[in-house]
Order: sequence, then structure tokens, then C-alpha cells
Amino acid sequence: MKQIQMVDLQGQYQKIKAEVDEAIHKVLDSSSYINGPAVHQFQANLEKYLGVKHVIPCANGTDALQISMMALGLKPGDEVITTSFTFIATAEVIALLQLTPVLVDVDEATFNIDPEAIKRAITPKTKAIVPVHLFGQCSDMEAIMNIAKKYDLKIIEDNCQAIGSDYIYKDGSRKKAGGIGDIGCTSFFPSKNLGAYGDGGAIFTNDDELAKQCRIIANHGMTVRYYHDLIGVNSRLDSIQAALLDVKLNHLDEYCAARNKAADYYNNAFKNHPNLVIPANFERSSHVFHQYTLVTKNVDRNAMHEFLQAKGFPAPIYYPVPLHMQKAYTDPRYKEGDFPITEMLCNSVISLPMHTELDEEQLEFITNAVLEFVNK
Ligand SMILES: Cc1ncc(COP(=O)(O)O)c(C=O)c1O
Repeated sequence: MKQIQMVDLQGQYQKIKAEVDEAIHKVLDSSSYINGPAVHQFQANLEKYLGVKHVIPCANGTDALQISMMALGLKPGDEVITTSFTFIATAEVIALLQLTPVLVDVDEATFNIDPEAIKRAITPKTKAIVPVHLFGQCSDMEAIMNIAKKYDLKIIEDNCQAIGSDYIYKDGSRKKAGGIGDIGCTSFFPSKNLGAYGDGGAIFTNDDELAKQCRIIANHGMTVRYYHDLIGVNSRLDSIQAALLDVKLNHLDEYCAARNKAADYYNNAFKNHPNLVIPANFERSSHVFHQYTLVTKNVDRNAMHEFLQAKGFPAPIYYPVPLHMQKAYTDPRYKEGDFPITEMLCNSVISLPMHTELDEEQLEFITNAVLEFVNK
């Protein structure tokens, strides 16, 4: 059996090697490494794929979030509501900009931010909400957009884990995740569903003015060469990454389908097991399974993690510590017990290998190992 990895980037590359190599060589032959034609082509194709007016490529997903918050003109002391169950980058940029992160609990079934908890957290200082489409599934965007409208708040979608997924409105119409709020952000970190061979990120918006601001901020706050009207950052997607991402964008739907196929295999093996809760299918979203994450019940989750690792494959914990209990984010406003669902999830979730190259032999091995542990 092929070694089981969390993501099989080599296996995926081999299938598209000719296309990728050709695209990279085209950039090498042009020597146009920064802001070259490959970046513009990828940007245009991603705009088309997502159905958004503007894509602003940048250096990574963290920068995408930071630039978005700067472009929205958020000021120190402004409160930004986000989820307590996410990767640290979401809160990191809020803190770095001296905005005030206001954390709220998540929905137990979908792991995504709870709109009712958002409502309870709103104060006169609240300026924005950052829903995170965790593990590949959209947050409850209609409810969140309604709250934003009522309280005049900006929405920045952290879409680093859900590119390609669809939000499904009550009337059945669909929009791509990241294209619903004022701004959407994504990451092209290699293990992401649309992953580069290095770092990368992008910002999406339908607002012309915001797009302009994001472009200026990402380019040192420069409007005319060497004239700096704003304090900005240096955040670029390079041409080689853009060229190969453009190739992979053509395969994104097929990659999402492959992830769903692996998730179906896992779901069939684990559904109805008294100690395992399979990922919920939120009716308002398609799922692109950036992660396949089980909730364990009455199981020593850490022992299970060790057991599966000893079987020869990774089974990581996303995430072991909620944001409000991270040392760097210690805050007198929060204490253990404040976000019971997040805390329960941090103590009981476990993720299984999830990528586009998993074969049946590997899936069978993984499911057998999980069942061996929980049936002990
Ligand atoms: C939810 C979330 N937000 C933000 C980021 C940051 O993206 P990057 O690693 O490209 O900076 C990531 C990815 O790691 C993420 O998963």
C-alpha cells in the first residue's frame, strides 16, 4: 500500500505534471516573475470561477485578512466578531491591527460561527464580523448577512478552507463561498484545496472601491510609483505560483469531487457508530472537505490519535486549544468555560487523512484502524 499522508501533493502533481511544468517553464522563459501575465490570467480565471468582480492576489491568507481589514478602514479599538474555533491567523490579524477580537461560540453540528451568538456579542463598537468557513463548509451566510445589514457591519469571509464550496440560498440559488460578504479571503498554502507550491493568497470583492484600496495597500500603499498615499504592506503572489494555480484551478471541481468521494467512504464506515459523529452536511452549503473531522464520544481522543499514528498515518487535532485559551491571547474578558461547544470540540475532534489521491486500499486501512480503536 502507498504510504498514507495527510495530503499527497506528489501524487497529485504527477497527474498534472506536464501541464504544470509547461506553465512554470513559460514563466521562466518570460522572466516575468512579479505581477506578470500569469498573475493577471489567474486573477481573471479565478474571478470567473468565483463569480466575483475582483480578485486581488497576495502573498498568503493571513495577509489577505489583514489587507481586507485595513481596506475597510477598521481602526484600533473597533470590535471584530469572530469564532473561537479557528486557525489562529483569523484572530492574529485582528490583534496585530489593534482591533479588538470578540470571540463567540460555534454551532455544534457544523463547527461554524453561531449567528445567535454573534447577535449577543454586538456592541456599539462592533464594526465587522469574520465568519470562517471551517473545514470546507460555508457558515450560515444568509443569517450573518442579515445581522450585518441590521447593525451596519462589514463581513470578511475567511474562506481559506472552503474555496470551491457553494452557499445555497433558501430560494435554491447559489454563490461561491468567499463571494458573499463585503470581502472574501483565501489561502493557497500547499495543503489547501487549491494549493500552490509555496505560499499564496487572494482577496475577493464585488466592490470597486474596496478592490482599489486592497490593491494599493498590498503594494506598499502606492498609488503612483514612489508616491505612497497610505501605509501599506508588501504582499504579492508571484508569477510561478499564479501559473501553476491557474492549471490547478481547472481541476478544482474534480479535486472537490475526489475529496467528497473519500468523505463518503469514511461516512459509510462510521455512520451510526455510537462513539463517532460524522461531519454534518449543512443544508445551506456544499462541502469541499478541506478536512474530514470526526467528533468522538466517550473515547480517549488523545489515545486514539497516538494509536492511529502508530498504525502509520497522521490523524491530527484541528484544533487542540480554543483561541480564548491560547497563551498569547489571554484576555481578562475570557476564561475557560466561556465557549462550551468550542471547548468540547477541541477536546474531542480528530481529523483523518483527506486529499485527492486517497485510494480504496488506503481508505479501508484507515477506517479499519479507527474502528479497531473505538471497538476495543
Ligand atoms: C481558517 C484559516 N484562516 C487563515 C489562514 C491563513 O492562511 P495562510 O497560511 O496562507 O497565511 C488559514 C490557513 O492556514 C486558515 O486555515
